[in-house]
Amino acid sequence: MKEQLEQLLADAIGKIKADGVLPADHSVNIQLDRPRDKSHGDFATNLALTLAKPAKSNPRQLAEQIIAALPQNTLIAKTDIAGPGFINFTIAQDQLKQQLQAMFDSDRLAVDETSDKRTIVIDYSSPNLAKEMHVGHLRSAIIGDAVSRVSEFLGHKVIRQNHVGDWGTQFGMLLAYMEALDNQEAEYELSNLETFYKAAKQRFDDSETFANRARELVVKLQSGDDYCLRLWNQFIEVSLSHCQEVYDRLGVKLTRNDVMAESAYNDRLPGVIEHLKARGLLVEDQGAQCVFLDEFKGKEGEPLPIIVQKKGGGYLYATTDLAAIQYRQKELGGDYLMYFVDARQSLHFEQIFTLARKAGFIEGDIRTQHFGFGTVMGKDGKPYKSRDGGVTKLADLLDEAERRALELLQQKSSDLTEQQQQEIAKVVGISSVKYADLSKNRTSDYIFDWDLMLTFEGNTAPYLLYAFTRVNSIFSRLGEQGFDESVPFVLEDERELALANQLVRFNEVVHQVYDKAMPHFLCGYLFDLAGRFSSFYEACPILNQDDAQLRNSRLKLARLTANTLQQGLQLLGIPTLEKM
Ligand code: ARG
Repeated sequence: MKEQLEQLLADAIGKIKADGVLPADHSVNIQLDRPRDKSHGDFATNLALTLAKPAKSNPRQLAEQIIAALPQNTLIAKTDIAGPGFINFTIAQDQLKQQLQAMFDSDRLAVDETSDKRTIVIDYSSPNLAKEMHVGHLRSAIIGDAVSRVSEFLGHKVIRQNHVGDWGTQFGMLLAYMEALDNQEAEYELSNLETFYKAAKQRFDDSETFANRARELVVKLQSGDDYCLRLWNQFIEVSLSHCQEVYDRLGVKLTRNDVMAESAYNDRLPGVIEHLKARGLLVEDQGAQCVFLDEFKGKEGEPLPIIVQKKGGGYLYATTDLAAIQYRQKELGGDYLMYFVDARQSLHFEQIFTLARKAGFIEGDIRTQHFGFGTVMGKDGKPYKSRDGGVTKLADLLDEAERRALELLQQKSSDLTEQQQQEIAKVVGISSVKYADLSKNRTSDYIFDWDLMLTFEGNTAPYLLYAFTRVNSIFSRLGEQGFDESVPFVLEDERELALANQLVRFNEVVHQVYDKAMPHFLCGYLFDLAGRFSSFYEACPILNQDDAQLRNSRLKLARLTANTLQQGLQLLGIPTLEKM
């Protein structure tokens, strides 16, 4: 519908250009918005306001000319000029009904596949393995996962990559600590990586001998020493299995097959340096190999180096990322490389993308994009901490979510057994944490607040999950009896119309989520949809409706609402519940 309207407007612009109203070479960007206020129609554009100047006309007059130039069509029922020169469009009901029917008949709710199919390599989660996953790892995993699901749904080929950090200098310290424990102790201590890390760090800070041993072990590890590799492998295994547990609980689709760790690029790193050298990009600066790009300058305008090899020969985070870009493009066949990584790394990504292009690691139509996100904050406005002031382990956070969800469910009267309630609490708890993250604008920091995410009021997982069960309950009451799906939609009541108008936006919203990698658009959409359904449900009798046509049409609207809620939540990585 939106594309059709855009096309009509593009035609109208073509016509007023031909008529000499607007200079023919003026490039026009058509923007259509959804007015918040229903009385302003279904779509609005500020086109006449932005074009008034080049057209040397006043906006209201230009608006009239644009409207007059629109081709004959059955899409637009009504146009209005509002305020200084906005044009509002009301879409004809026939169109709306056709679209609803198409959604109803489709097994993908008439969401169009993309016309630009790509092989997308999505880098997400990618924690450092030295420590156990903590609250800071939530966003990448949850947002990256939702965007991968949406991309797949739109017909892209998606390759997930978990670029775990398993090769930093901290590993020397961890290996030295493992070495100092006997086998049994090590096994026990490794069961809690957080305390293991702390204990190792403590020793490192306290004992010079230990610190030296740690440094020695990193060097040995990096030169491929068997003994060190064995210890290291043991540690990595434990750490990865902790990650996998978290992914499984979160319903994040990453598996061991998606892990392509930093260390896996080791053999390629000398090649990266060779390549940069051959291209004449390397400069030696105080013994380190660096690249200086004109695009990146420090505060005083001084050149900013990208260090790719340290004085002693060691490689860096950036070097590995360059190798990974090469691998993702050449070996995985990626032509769109997405990165879901904390916004604080945006300079790093700008630098390596620019360098990768300059060095010829990426060529042509390959897209690279860093999608940053803000920090998870506590209510005090500082990065979220556990009660004891430490970082919160994700596993503990999820336990707490499930516990709090159970309390929430127990406050609600229900006919569920204890056992059922516990099962449901798991889904509600985990979903609440995920949804709280997904529903915020990705780029801002957000405040992690249990009370706001675990409530049936507002834009929350419990609200939406409950809304879904409510719609579904209509069909369980209907039982075997079923209903006649062949009747056409009736949209007479304003609540039916409002619901229908929201339903047909699904296609547009899913595409927006992909385009901007912003899942909160979909959350807002689903919340609005659930709200409109509930107004409809209160005002428009369904099961005790005598008029058969009306009853069937309303059942179709309900069915479509249930399917859209379910599909939308699934794209966000949130399962629905039959009962709550
Ligand atoms: N391990 C890194 C960190 O925790 C994030 C890696 C992101 N991905 C990448 N290709 N650099 O900060």
